[in-house]
Amino acid sequence: MLGGMSGVDRRTFLLATAAAGAATTALPGSAHAATPVFEHGVASGDPLPDGVLLWTRVVTTEPIRWEVAKDPAFTRVVAHGHTVTGAHRDHTVKVEVSGLRPATHYYYRFTAAGTLSPVGRTKTAPRPSDDCGSLKFGVVSCSNWIAGHFAAYGYLASRDDLDAVIHLGDYIYEYFEPGVRVTEPQAECETLADYRTRHAQYKTDPHLQSLHAKHPFVATWDDHESAENASSIGSPVHDPATEGPWATRLAAATQAYFEWMPVREGKLTRRLHFGRLADLTMLDLRSYRTDTTILGPAQRHWLASSLVDGRARWKLVGNSVMLSPLKIPPLPGQPSTNTDQWDGFPADRDHVLRALDRAGMKNAVFLTGDIHSSWAIDVPFGDTTVATEFVTTSVTSDNFDERIGVPPRTASLQIEAQFRTLNPHVKFVELDSHGAQVLTVTPEQVQMDWHYVADKRDPNTSTALTHSWRTRHNTAQVEQIL
Ligand SMILES: [Fe+2]
Repeated sequence: MLGGMSGVDRRTFLLATAAAGAATTALPGSAHAATPVFEHGVASGDPLPDGVLLWTRVVTTEPIRWEVAKDPAFTRVVAHGHTVTGAHRDHTVKVEVSGLRPATHYYYRFTAAGTLSPVGRTKTAPRPSDDCGSLKFGVVSCSNWIAGHFAAYGYLASRDDLDAVIHLGDYIYEYFEPGVRVTEPQAECETLADYRTRHAQYKTDPHLQSLHAKHPFVATWDDHESAENASSIGSPVHDPATEGPWATRLAAATQAYFEWMPVREGKLTRRLHFGRLADLTMLDLRSYRTDTTILGPAQRHWLASSLVDGRARWKLVGNSVMLSPLKIPPLPGQPSTNTDQWDGFPADRDHVLRALDRAGMKNAVFLTGDIHSSWAIDVPFGDTTVATEFVTTSVTSDNFDERIGVPPRTASLQIEAQFRTLNPHVKFVELDSHGAQVLTVTPEQVQMDWHYVADKRDPNTSTALTHSWRTRHNTAQVEQIL
């Protein structure tokens, strides 16, 4: 949280700061101070029908002016104010803007000591009562700096038609190893300074900056924002004997994430509403995880008791790791199941899926990241299917062919066939490609389009729509379109 304040207190603080700033006609002079620079771009997140969260970073002791306008030239400013930042939050800036119109594009920018930030574009959500005909979301996960360039982000930035970008985690990677690009720091992140430096470097990427500046994000985290296969009680790559208490490291990773990401601070579990068409529930599958639960008691109760609530036709769920049960083909050095996924927590999964089954709800669509590959799955429960799961491939993180060192679309073809045979509920799996996804939601169906990049090592690589699957209203069964 910002300075230990609750969300309500923080909102009040920002509004009060804005009101105080609005009475100032000119920013105090800073002729002798270094000229501030907005080197990490601008971002927005978690759109509401009447507001959105704005983000930037700038090193200054001056008040920072923010403006929201209907046009990119800022001739029609509809909201403005001032705020402040400082070293206590690594000079990151967040502004909670309210009083906006629903389902509307806005432009925003910041000014610090006379320096203008880049201009960002964002969009508010429809009102919960609105019958919006369709929604489009970018859906992404697993962007590893060392593994390549973020051209997949650039593809989503080139599109004008997205309502938001859903990020399912592994936005940064904490470790250090040789690759296409070199990370900062040049060591595994362990301290608050390390995680801040890593986040800062990622936000210098031009593709990522352009994506943040074009669409609001709705993000949750997975393990690599802290450490490999993290839970609330540890990580297999964290050694308390040499690296200190896990709680200290997790707190550092959490603080840096909340400072640097356009999310409301304090809790990643939340639900956003997009008219009568879709609710978007975002889960946190790391902060409350132990050896026996992936959700933790409070999140489990909330999810099972409220997922089917409300009038929204589709219940989208941002879910960082695979929900569906998955038998893994015999592979050297591989276990038969991945217990970092929900497969390691069958009681939690049964609890959630039973709630869907009892409600007769077939319109839950789980959007999943983590495993650097593309999947479309009928989520099984007993002898029926109760939901749909679409899994995003990685922006850059290594996938199957790269991990075993073979050319793409060779050895993977047989493994994909084995996955489908062992898991009849898996209708589509592609293990080799990288890219970004676009999810289109209409009253009749939810469709996932996989857009693959040709070469993740090339920042200017091409992108092509390669696979497309849908689930139709009240079926919980995926169908191939492309
Ligand atoms: Fe990942």
